Amino acid sequence: MTTASTAASAAPGALLGVYAPVGPRFVAGDGVELIAEDGTRYLDFVAGIGVNALGYNHPVVRQAVEHALGTGLIHISNLYRTEPAERLAEELVARSFADRVFFCNSGAEANEAAFKFARKWSGKSEIVAFSGSFHGRLFATLAATDRPEYKKPFEPLVPGIRIVPREDWAAVDHAVSASRTAAVIVEPVQGEGGVRPIDPEWLGFLRELCDSRGVAVIFDEVQCGLGRTGTLFAYEQTGVVPDVLTLAKPLAGGLPMGAVLLRDAIASALKPGDHATTFGGGPLVASVALEVVRTIAQPDFLAAVRQKGEWLGARLAGLASRSAKVRDARGRGLMWGLELAEPAAPCVTAARERGLLVLTAGANVLRLVPPLVITPQELERGVAILEEILA
Ligand SMILES: Cc1ncc(COP(=O)(O)O)c(C=O)c1O
Repeated sequence: MTTASTAASAAPGALLGVYAPVGPRFVAGDGVELIAEDGTRYLDFVAGIGVNALGYNHPVVRQAVEHALGTGLIHISNLYRTEPAERLAEELVARSFADRVFFCNSGAEANEAAFKFARKWSGKSEIVAFSGSFHGRLFATLAATDRPEYKKPFEPLVPGIRIVPREDWAAVDHAVSASRTAAVIVEPVQGEGGVRPIDPEWLGFLRELCDSRGVAVIFDEVQCGLGRTGTLFAYEQTGVVPDVLTLAKPLAGGLPMGAVLLRDAIASALKPGDHATTFGGGPLVASVALEVVRTIAQPDFLAAVRQKGEWLGARLAGLASRSAKVRDARGRGLMWGLELAEPAAPCVTAARERGLLVLTAGANVLRLVPPLVITPQELERGVAILEEILA
């Protein structure tokens, strides 16, 4: 049992002890740097865990927030129509496979909604997820998340959600049932599970299997979507198109927002009252998200992410080949993991002490998800610090 004193030591002040923040308190952000109370600047390869795609104080986000505030409308409810949500939905539809969009407030909420939509459409209840997955911390998404330590204290979770080995052809063939399975959910590039791009051939097999058994394919692009891997959506690089796609993290430039993109076939199973959220798609967040999506979707912007990603991948592969501490370098675009032969947490501390913020993805993987606007020089600065620590 957690005692009052351990909870108090993990969380500063009156904050609940579910986080254990480390390092300084930050007071400002500028480009790809965070600035601490004492004025120290940190190069940020965390980006609010893949949220701050445009870094800090980006003019597009600033202007969108200021413009939206100028209308006086932060929120008015989905009881009424507003232009920003309608335009944002049209923008996402125009740029993807989808016909309809539902807005919510986080990644977990987007995935929970996706499960409900697949259940309503299929009339079936089971969800199949895969080893290494992370889909959120609410009851159904936690059930679909492959982290026993996160789940155990909160059981029983939602029944009918199974985790089967990823990229295992026989296991998925066995698990996906025409009579029981509503949907499968997969991250095209797993994030929390160690930064793992999933084999596109296996995704193609999964797609065919689901087609033949009347099962919806949900791609969770909460972390890997919206330019992170060098294309607007990660699915574009797999050759596989899902039925439902979830987004969140970078969508509204740091404001909380999630989205579920759906094909008409599934969307048409939903009617007024089937699902709702008070804040989803409010005018302020939707206005900002529209500008963020338009900025990221520029072909030049995405080409630059791919170019910087190739450079970063080559440097990390070089580090992996030279260093006994690094077992593997994996990733796409500006989403990379370094699998270490040792725990990753001490390297996070060592990097912070040298002015670089990085995070882990599981016990042995260092995760690098810098703002997509990072310059080659800033990438070089960060990689040089990592090489110093790991060489
Ligand atoms: C792939 C993926 N799905 C879902 C989530 C949950 O998102 P949120 O924390 O916004 O609920 C995350 C968060 O890290 C994620 O990486």
